[in-house]
Amino acid sequence: MLQDKITQYTEEINAFSTAKAAELEQFRIKFLGTKGIIKDIFDEFKAVSPEEKRTLGKVLNVFKQLAESKYQALKEQSTETSAGKEEGLDLTLPGEGFEIGSRHPLALVRKEIVEIFNKLGFIVAEGPEIEDDWHNFSALNFPEEHPARDMQDTFFIKKGGEKGDIALRTHTSSVQVRMMESGKPPFRAIMPGRVYRNEAISARAHCFFHQVEGLYVDENVSFADLKQTLFYFVQEMYGEGTKVRFRPSYFPFTEPSAEMDISCTICKGAGCQFCKYSGWVEILGCGMVDPNVLENCGIDAKKYSGFAFGMGIERITNLKFEIKDLRLFSENDVRFLKQYKTTLI
Ligand code: PHE
Repeated sequence: MLQDKITQYTEEINAFSTAKAAELEQFRIKFLGTKGIIKDIFDEFKAVSPEEKRTLGKVLNVFKQLAESKYQALKEQSTETSAGKEEGLDLTLPGEGFEIGSRHPLALVRKEIVEIFNKLGFIVAEGPEIEDDWHNFSALNFPEEHPARDMQDTFFIKKGGEKGDIALRTHTSSVQVRMMESGKPPFRAIMPGRVYRNEAISARAHCFFHQVEGLYVDENVSFADLKQTLFYFVQEMYGEGTKVRFRPSYFPFTEPSAEMDISCTICKGAGCQFCKYSGWVEILGCGMVDPNVLENCGIDAKKYSGFAFGMGIERITNLKFEIKDLRLFSENDVRFLKQYKTTLI
């Protein structure tokens, strides 16, 4: 009885030749599994007579080995073939993987700037990139014949709208005007965004770039508040010990106005090509909001005062990552962009 079964199964095993993973697994379960044929036969073997045990014992072991070695051989074959053929599936092969994209360096730096000012209570305000003359220039106290309105600098879109010529905004100060017009003080906000100027494209200039401007309007806001806010920003952005200095400057919408330099982050003030051997680099313009601007936006300039500042994100990024050519930011060269991998999502 048992001998017949073994002969029959031996034939079956010898005839089995597939290397397909699924069928091979069925083979394993059928013969070698915990409820498989070999287990059954060994159970039956316990009941046979002692003489039979002697002869059958050997046969049984040979049978068991046959099943096991057949399984092993086919399994190896299956692993080898599945790499090249459609048949068979090798789950141990490495996956194809997919590349995680990276954030644009300007987006990374903008995020960092926003986070620093958030800590000081500044919210983010946004506005349109296509602006009218009022919001981009007139409300900001630009005289009628100011050169910034000139065709050289501004991309005009349409002449003479309700609020003057329509153009691509040249700075995000326009968002400050919109904010002041539509709300009541206090204001504490930063305005990140893209701006456009009609400049020839080179390593140092582009026809569009990105800014973060800031505005703080309340009672009793002073130049000391401005200095301390920007000093804090620089320490957070470039590390403690980075020096700042303010140089008097001129903007139509601030009075007094200043430009702020920081000690060169590349040579630490010792002097290098980047800072033109001066040890300092300019990073932003700032000043106390001109009372005319407050009044233009319907704010009582006797009661309120404020400061404003504006910086180019490209410039801040240059200093952070030592990227010397502005054009790299808009060329979409993946080899460049890939360097700024981040775990920030
Ligand atoms: N709007 C100025 C610019 O684009 C920057 C600035 C903002 C200067 C606020 C002073 C105060 O150059």
